[in-house]
Amino acid sequence: MSDVTTPVLKVENLTKHFPVRRGVVIQRTIGKVQAVDDVSFEIKRGETLALVGESGCGKSTTGRVILGLMPATGGSVQFKGEEMAGLSQGALRRMRRHIQIIFQDPYASLNPRMTVAQILAEPLSVHGIAEGSAADARVRELLQVVGLLPEHARRYPHQFSGGQRQRIGIARALAVNPDLIVCDEPVSALDVSIQAQVVNLLQNLQRQFGLSYLFIAHDLAVVKHISDRVAVMYLGKLVEIADKRTLYAMPRHPYTQALLSAIPTPDPTSATQRIILEGDVPSPLNPPKGCRFHTRCRYAQPRCSAEEPLLRDAGGGQRVACHFFETIPTAVSIKPADTAGSKFDLRLAAFEAAKKRGATVDA
Ligand SMILES: Nc1ncnc2c1ncn2[C@@H]1O[C@H](COP(=O)(O)OP(=O)(O)O)[C@@H](O)[C@H]1O
Ligand code: SF4
Ligand SMILES: [Mg+2]
Repeated sequence: MSDVTTPVLKVENLTKHFPVRRGVVIQRTIGKVQAVDDVSFEIKRGETLALVGESGCGKSTTGRVILGLMPATGGSVQFKGEEMAGLSQGALRRMRRHIQIIFQDPYASLNPRMTVAQILAEPLSVHGIAEGSAADARVRELLQVVGLLPEHARRYPHQFSGGQRQRIGIARALAVNPDLIVCDEPVSALDVSIQAQVVNLLQNLQRQFGLSYLFIAHDLAVVKHISDRVAVMYLGKLVEIADKRTLYAMPRHPYTQALLSAIPTPDPTSATQRIILEGDVPSPLNPPKGCRFHTRCRYAQPRCSAEEPLLRDAGGGQRVACHFFETIPTAVSIKPADTAGSKFDLRLAAFEAAKKRGATVDA
């Protein structure tokens, strides 16, 4: 049953493994890529949950399973209180209308042979929402809502800039009046000024239509602006989840701290106060035992490679998957002077300046 307090999306113990096969005549499964492992979170109505982490940590796979584009290996996805696994094809199609996606590269997802009008009319027809003149009117309305002009309807995707193409992608997602939009790195390929305009647009649309977003990104400066809560993923696992203010003011997981790259080194005499994440993310085909982060963690102890840390409550809605989060230093103890000029702070300053400029041209 669904009422206003039911989350739009509830993901419980979601797991997605990809089997890896070898052999030409007889194929054997030689392992599995553990892309998403036992991930749980909720998104409330009108809320934006950001999903962050380095490339390959399972963000897009999480999004695709939620969209019903691929089946889960295990766990559950509930949309407005209704379990998606086990729905008939027809019921799944009807439900999918309410969950839409915006991609990083709108160009790749827009048919180059279709005009913008055709691109926007297609979902209206597929879902039996509008045809003919009613569809034309809806297309005009959608263009206006995303800040494009009526004459853009006759043009083809290649005739637009990257930012405008992303607006077309957003209009297509909005066409069917969704409740939830999975935004998979929607601004990662854009210049900072265009990023800010698209983020402003997404925020305006959220207020206007009461949308919920799962906002997938690796840029924590952008996420700081658009999210209400943030979930941090590492190698298929959720390592920390908290409301935005808490996560940025007091990241507790060593990986989150490294992403924000503003934590003190254990040596108080050291001149550098920033940590740098060294090495690549290990392969999800054979993830490290125990805590998956232990091969890169500056606080790792013998227990870390033996025992997997569970997400534990750190108070105030913050949950952290680290055996030692209570005792490791938090970023709160760093002086502002130590963090000013970090990569994150420079990014944040550039994005904020662009966002302010964007707010005046893009209201
Ligand atoms: N269809 C697939 N088949 C096999 N492995 C996949 C497939 N899709 C993703 N993966 C693997 O799953 C892991 C997570 O990928 P992905 O979800 O795309 O990460 P992210 O979006 O965080 O960069 C990666 O190791 C990737 O190579
Ligand atoms: S459990 Fe150990 S290895 Fe993992 S983040 Fe915590 S201290 Fe680091
Ligand atoms: Mg991805």
